[in-house]
Amino acid sequence: MSEERQRAALVTGASSGIGREIARRLCDEGRVVYGIGRNFERPEEKELLENPLFHPVVCDLLDTAGLLDTVRRIRAEVKITALISNAGSAYYGVHEMLTNEQIEEIVRLDLEVPMLLTKQFLPEFKKSGGTFIYIASVTAQNLANPHGAAYGAAKTGLLSFARSILEEGRKCGVQVTAVLPDMTRTDLYRNADFEAEPDAAAGASLAPSEVADAVMYVLSRPAGVVVPEIVLQPQLRRIAKKPHSPYGSRL
Ligand SMILES: NC(=O)c1ccc[n+]([C@@H]2O[C@H](COP(=O)([O-])OP(=O)(O)OC[C@H]3O[C@@H](n4cnc5c(N)ncnc54)[C@H](OP(=O)(O)O)[C@@H]3O)[C@@H](O)[C@H]2O)c1
Repeated sequence: MSEERQRAALVTGASSGIGREIARRLCDEGRVVYGIGRNFERPEEKELLENPLFHPVVCDLLDTAGLLDTVRRIRAEVKITALISNAGSAYYGVHEMLTNEQIEEIVRLDLEVPMLLTKQFLPEFKKSGGTFIYIASVTAQNLANPHGAAYGAAKTGLLSFARSILEEGRKCGVQVTAVLPDMTRTDLYRNADFEAEPDAAAGASLAPSEVADAVMYVLSRPAGVVVPEIVLQPQLRRIAKKPHSPYGSRL
């Protein structure tokens, strides 16, 4: 494989929300981005898709064989020097209300997939440098997450994993950051019976661009500086019950 390969960032969950904003910002700064998602046909995606630096990669992250094959193909084309593990899903409610499939999806997407992808890139990052950024959640800081037990546990696991990979990789020049955002205005809460106070001006939630700012800050640090964790919270904590929730009212 040629060492002349172009340098690029790989962003999972680049088709929506926080990941799309991270991909957009990276491209705006002239970086080549490979973005993984299943559906790049949302109208909001149009501008990013028109950017020649952005390469959409349709892949179901939960299909491990397909994912590993996709990674092999990407690495044959470019040299990935930053992996932003962002894709995630969340289901909320008292734990017994979650289906087995929802629990599996949370654990696999929010924890297993970042571990598998990290393993793919770790040897090269240890050899020639690279940055792992994990989009965890502010829930990872809590000792308990009632109404979000599985999600909170997966994100706590992801934070622990990020800390371990930092300790393992830092002596070889690997940079690792966990970003822990609080409520951010994306589609993540489509399965929840609550949402951030809908009035954005109230300062009760973050914009995806604010999480992307943190990622850009990390990637602009000079070699030799590691930012282990960034916690981002809105000024206010105001959660509103959705008027018509499929799950009823459980807050
Ligand atoms: N929004 C928040 O308040 C908040 C707070 C803290 C942490 N986070 C974390 O931020 C990350 C991004 O979430 P978001 O808020 O931006 O939510 P989002 O808008 O729902 O985006 C989720 C992304 O993950 C991708 N994805 C989900 N399942 C996938 C699969 N099986 N294969 C491939 N891609 C898949 C989605 O792509 P497709 O739809 O194309 O499949 C989408 O691009 C998540 O890890 C989330 O836990 C969010």
